[in-house]
Amino acid sequence: MAIGERFSAWLLDWAMRQMDDLRPGTTGAASGEVLEIGFGTGLNLRHYGPEVKKLIGVDPMSPDAIGATADRMAAARFPVEHHQLRADGTLPFDAGRFDTVVTTWTLCTIPDPIAALAEMRRVLAPGGRYVFVEHGRAESEQTARWQDRLNPIWKRMAGGCNMNRRTAEIVERGGFALLESERFQSDAPALLSHTLRGVAHVP
Ligand SMILES: C[S@@+](CC[C@H](N)C(=O)[O-])C[C@H]1O[C@@H](n2cnc3c(N)ncnc32)[C@H](O)[C@@H]1O
Repeated sequence: MAIGERFSAWLLDWAMRQMDDLRPGTTGAASGEVLEIGFGTGLNLRHYGPEVKKLIGVDPMSPDAIGATADRMAAARFPVEHHQLRADGTLPFDAGRFDTVVTTWTLCTIPDPIAALAEMRRVLAPGGRYVFVEHGRAESEQTARWQDRLNPIWKRMAGGCNMNRRTAEIVERGGFALLESERFQSDAPALLSHTLRGVAHVP
């Protein structure tokens, strides 16, 4: 594996560890068989509750990019499988298989989030939940304009991450209805701090 790939994974892991306090508010709502899209370096694993029985992680990044990912998978209380693939293609899972689908700071990066949400909907069991925490577009027009101006540079620097996506709209256009949602600002730098946490279902 190229050294650049390892360094990017290490950097991602460091940056995303800063969000650990916000993880339980989302992972705590997961249960049963869980599909985690944008598994990253496995930082959510230790934050899942006892209701989680098995977890399948999907991410185009290799799980071997840093050793910590395998350690976290091995330390989980439940079996964890990793599939190295993009979520905005066809997922190799049967329709209706999963009780919960989870994304944490991932819809910002998936090139075609609507396609990914359509697949997430397909593999979710009837009555299943999509739970997420995502950063996105600020409510203040002035801040949002800065996000629009700086997004092209940021996207190049940050592996395809967009700082200005309208998360709630995207989730709804992807065919989900929000059951609960909460907007807040995280401790991340101002333009990246506008966060939406939610629970959604297929109406
Ligand atoms: C900001 S990181 C978040 C990682 C992890 N969810 C966390 O909370 O630490 C975004 C993740 O989305 C993944 N990603 C990028 N494009 C993707 C795609 N098309 N399908 C699924 N995951 C993707 C990246 O590889 C990366 O691991």
